[in-house]
Amino acid sequence: MSDSRRKILVTSALPYANGSPHMGHLVEYIQTDIWVRFQKLRGHDCIYVCASDSHGTPIMLKARELGITPEELTEGYSKEFVNDFADFGIGFDNYHTTHSPENEALVASMYRKLRDSGDIYSRTIEQMYDEREGMFLPDRFVMGTCPNCKAEDQYGDACENCNKATSPETLIDPKSVLSGTTPVKRESEHFFFRLSDYEDRLRQWMRDSALDKNVVSKLEEWFEAGLQDWDISRDAPYFGFRIPETQDKYFYVWLDAPVGYMASFKHLCDRRDDLEFDEYWAAGSDAELYHFIGKDIMYFHTLFWPAVLNGSGYRTPTSVFAHGFLTVDGQKMSKSRGTFIKARTYLDNLNPEFLRYYYAAKLGPTIEDIDLNLEDFVARVNSDLVGKLVNIASRCAGFIHKRFDGELARELPDEALFAQVADASETIAGHYERREYSKAMRLIMALADKANRYIDDHKPWVMAKDEDRLPDVQLVCTQGINLFRSLMIYLAPVLPTVAAATREFLGEDSWQWQDAVTPRLGATVRKFKPLLMRVEASQVEKMVEQSKQNAPAPAAVDDEYISIDDFMKVDLRIARIEQAEPVEGADKLLALTLDLGDGRRQVFAGIKAAYDPAELEGRHVIVVANLAPRKMRFGVSEGMVLAAGPGGEDIFLLSPDDGAAPGMRVK
Ligand code: MSP
Ligand code: ZN
Repeated sequence: MSDSRRKILVTSALPYANGSPHMGHLVEYIQTDIWVRFQKLRGHDCIYVCASDSHGTPIMLKARELGITPEELTEGYSKEFVNDFADFGIGFDNYHTTHSPENEALVASMYRKLRDSGDIYSRTIEQMYDEREGMFLPDRFVMGTCPNCKAEDQYGDACENCNKATSPETLIDPKSVLSGTTPVKRESEHFFFRLSDYEDRLRQWMRDSALDKNVVSKLEEWFEAGLQDWDISRDAPYFGFRIPETQDKYFYVWLDAPVGYMASFKHLCDRRDDLEFDEYWAAGSDAELYHFIGKDIMYFHTLFWPAVLNGSGYRTPTSVFAHGFLTVDGQKMSKSRGTFIKARTYLDNLNPEFLRYYYAAKLGPTIEDIDLNLEDFVARVNSDLVGKLVNIASRCAGFIHKRFDGELARELPDEALFAQVADASETIAGHYERREYSKAMRLIMALADKANRYIDDHKPWVMAKDEDRLPDVQLVCTQGINLFRSLMIYLAPVLPTVAAATREFLGEDSWQWQDAVTPRLGATVRKFKPLLMRVEASQVEKMVEQSKQNAPAPAAVDDEYISIDDFMKVDLRIARIEQAEPVEGADKLLALTLDLGDGRRQVFAGIKAAYDPAELEGRHVIVVANLAPRKMRFGVSEGMVLAAGPGGEDIFLLSPDDGAAPGMRVK
């Protein structure tokens, strides 16, 4: 047991409650949960809180679009978050929402403190305003041509083509994303937080808070560029908290979001006698406070947030731990490739502990991106977890159960080997503490290799055939089970469910980290149930297929539109049906012979249930003329006839008005 019991408060970023949790989110929640479980296993008072981030323009607009209130929208997604996270073994002590009375009270009181000490001032600014929608437009709701590289359809915050920062005012030919109209400039009074006054204090905080060196160099860059005061207000309509002493001004979502960390903790304190809010949040608190976040939200957590806390009289974070972004098979997650995988789709197909292990095996303390390579995932899980780890137990447990009534020997035959595993305890703990999970996993698997080698060398299955050597079988298997037990204690933060099953098999009520260094001897173990099954590549394939189907066909963020060029690629022509006849062996198809003005073509069309072939002859239809020929069972199909409707009898050929002739281009 570590000598002093630490008080630690840990958070993960608060997910926006307007979308389902996905594999990218899970990097963060799994990384945080492993750390929290590790601290708890070490005997510390570690509290893990989170909440839904429920405010802001996108949430307001999405709710409006769906015809529900923002409260309904965010409550719905919060439920999804809670369920999915629980099924991934993420053990929040509390999950709340930023749209809560606790948060509103905290935000208002912090704002008043900042205002009364001169940290807030108001200024009139000009902003883009959508007259049709009657609202000011956030930067990302204005699109136009980049003033720098002239790329079209760029957002009003940054150009995706040349990566330069833009502003809605500088875009050429700006349009409102909401109404398509040209926005106008309009004046409005805004409230600003004097971030520029905090540079010295923030530099000091940076030195004290043991940040990763990549985070430090980002901060240095920002200091170098000069800290800008921060606009913390938004005009109505807005879904958020109204700013005290104003009529129609709201706090910008990023002001009340991090306060949501405090509010969630407050909500927990109100239900637990052993927790005091001030013990964790008052200036000078001796509790530790850590925020786990993604690299995209560092500015908010390493500049605004410590400044706001300091300015309103609270303690600042002990440190902020930033991680990188998830790629799948080396690329950004993509809906059309099926690699935009929702947490639930994963759970429908695979064991959550596999992902926890895979992420752990890849995660370090830096902001480097991490890749989920699906092939590697299958190989890694099977070889490490099934092949190495669980194998130790499955090769020993049966003998103990069947031949010795479940009783373990009273001594270890190879204490030196056990000591090797026990002696790694503090090294592994150090890796977890510093978020060097990949190093911890490597070391644990190297020890698992040693345990397997020991069993290979002693071959209990051979000894068991010889009655005289039965005591040795018990000893060797006791050794194996104890090596497995210690390794499972080390892995308990990563594999909580497998660890719990192992603990029950061993007849133990609870584990502490320190239990790994003392063997369990003379005790009775239960019947061993297989702890993990191999992953099959087909399960992963199924998950990817389902993710493709999940993709709302045209609404995906990055492939919502096709360009005019894409459209022009489709060569649509008028054709005359010369001949139509049923296809032998195909109950849905008709074989059509088409005249396209430049020759004949054969096209198979699934319209048999709806049309009598004889009626079709002589009729004009629209055809995709440049579709790559497709070889079918009955012959080659050289195009596609356009029709509308769900299919079966309800299918309607599109036919042009009189005057259209074979070969005419359809535009
Ligand atoms: N609501 C803000 C956070 C407010 S914290 C006071 C937010 N929400 S989010 O839903 O967009 O992201 C939640 C967390 O998940 C962030 O830390 C973000 O970096 C992380 N991730 C979201 N997508 C991710 C990946 N594809 N990969 C890794 N982490 C990602 O930001
Ligand atoms: Zn550009």
